[in-house]
Amino acid sequence: MKKYSNNDLILSAINASKKSYSPYSKYRVGAALLGASGKIYTGCNVENESYGAAICAERTAVVKAISEGEQKFVALAIHGSPHEPKPNQTYYAFPCGICRQVLSEFAESDLTILIAHSESNYLERTLAELLPDSFGSDNLE
Ligand code: THU
Repeated sequence: MKKYSNNDLILSAINASKKSYSPYSKYRVGAALLGASGKIYTGCNVENESYGAAICAERTAVVKAISEGEQKFVALAIHGSPHEPKPNQTYYAFPCGICRQVLSEFAESDLTILIAHSESNYLERTLAELLPDSFGSDNLE
């Protein structure tokens, strides 16, 4: 199985962000989700004229993975920036609350999440750090 580095995953997220359909927010997001099988699933944000119908990059990647039969995940890289980034500004695109909750449905709390401005400038978190005290299946028992 091919091993991916943080660098590879971040590059995939940056490339995915280039496919973003974001004419309304003018903010591109790309996500790259590494499955336990070793395959990377990418996603971008896809907006809609009816604004609430937009889907985030992270959930695009999760939905692609699940629909292809991958249900275990190792790491996620996210890259986001405005269509016209300000020079010398660092952009960290943290996952929104809905995406954190959707990730928690499928990923373990130790999922690595890389919030990347670039390949060399990124923050590393776990899902547990980004979604503490979460609602999960335990609550339904
Ligand atoms: N967005 C994402 O793709 N992921 C997030 O976690 C936060 C926000 C997108 C949604 C919308 O297209 C744009 O960023 C601005 O909110």
